Amino acid sequence: MKTIFSGIQPSGTPTIGNYIGAMKHFVELQSQYDSYFCIVDEHAITVPQERLKLRQQTRSLAALYLAVGLDPSKATIFIQSEVSAHAEAAWIVQCNSSIGELERMTQFKDKSAKQGKSQVSAGLLTYPPLMVADIILYQTDVVPVGEDQKQHLELTRDFAQRFNSRYGNGNQLLTIPEVYIPKEGGRIMSLQEPTKKMSKSDSSKKAFISMLDEPNVIRKKIRSAVTDSSGIIEYDETEKPAISNLLTIFSAFSGESVDALVERYRATGYAVFKNDLAEAIIQVLEPIQKRHDELMNSSELDDILDEGAEKARRSANKTLKKMQNAVGLGRKRR
Ligand code: TYM
Repeated sequence: MKTIFSGIQPSGTPTIGNYIGAMKHFVELQSQYDSYFCIVDEHAITVPQERLKLRQQTRSLAALYLAVGLDPSKATIFIQSEVSAHAEAAWIVQCNSSIGELERMTQFKDKSAKQGKSQVSAGLLTYPPLMVADIILYQTDVVPVGEDQKQHLELTRDFAQRFNSRYGNGNQLLTIPEVYIPKEGGRIMSLQEPTKKMSKSDSSKKAFISMLDEPNVIRKKIRSAVTDSSGIIEYDETEKPAISNLLTIFSAFSGESVDALVERYRATGYAVFKNDLAEAIIQVLEPIQKRHDELMNSSELDDILDEGAEKARRSANKTLKKMQNAVGLGRKRR
């Protein structure tokens, strides 16, 4: 069986963008692969976090993984900081990456240009090597992510190739992973600025729908989502980015194709379309929220995470040993 790995940051409650671009596919793929799904809390602290809030969000994200349908009998679900191999491997990755290649990462470039290098943490620069470590530790074949992670996946592939050729003596020490980006929904846009990605850390709450938003909040946010003045439902990313984005969201939540939706709503006007879209989202999210709330108050969640961390450690430590041996750290053990 091939291996998949993916992770989400507990830097806020996941949005429907995270759901459509990533989580939904985790559930679809978990039966076909040896699966690892991680709550990447070490990534979240590259920007300041409130300690108790981070703890709460970490637990809540774990509950959401289960509530959307990840099955601990099929997939290993765990918290990154509970598997120390991630931080240890990240150090080896950093020492085999150049500052130049890390400074070219869009996320670092954008944030450091906006805030100034003296204001952003060094962790923001070395965050991609931690992500590389996450992936290679499980000898991952496939990484399901949204489009915004593509550059990090290219970095991971480059690193694995470099590491193999530097230290492998002709052997493939690390698996070179493939990226899996969904054909539709790999980049869900903001409800307020449809040329900007939907993000859980957006300062405007109206820009995103969180997976734990209540039905009335969802209705309100969809009603106030920007559109255009034509009144026609059509899919055209360049001319009608807002409506196209809403169509993609509708399709992801209803399971109907964009074409079928266009056919049905073309002439109904935006109000009817938005009303039905909000209900389609609520229909999917309501049972997920209910299950999430039950899990938050259970010890079942902790048992699953303990077991997940245990399994992840076993697998990650094997690769970590291999990497340490390859670069000459510690003593040679048989
Ligand atoms: P994060 O937490 O920002 O996002 C989690 C996942 O959701 C996807 N995503 C989106 N997809 C579609 N439309 C959007 N608007 C949207 N916003 C986010 C992301 O592409 C991602 O798949 N660095 C990663 C987390 C990470 C990781 C990893 C992922 C750490 N280590 C190893 C894969 C493998 C991140 O910040 O994702």
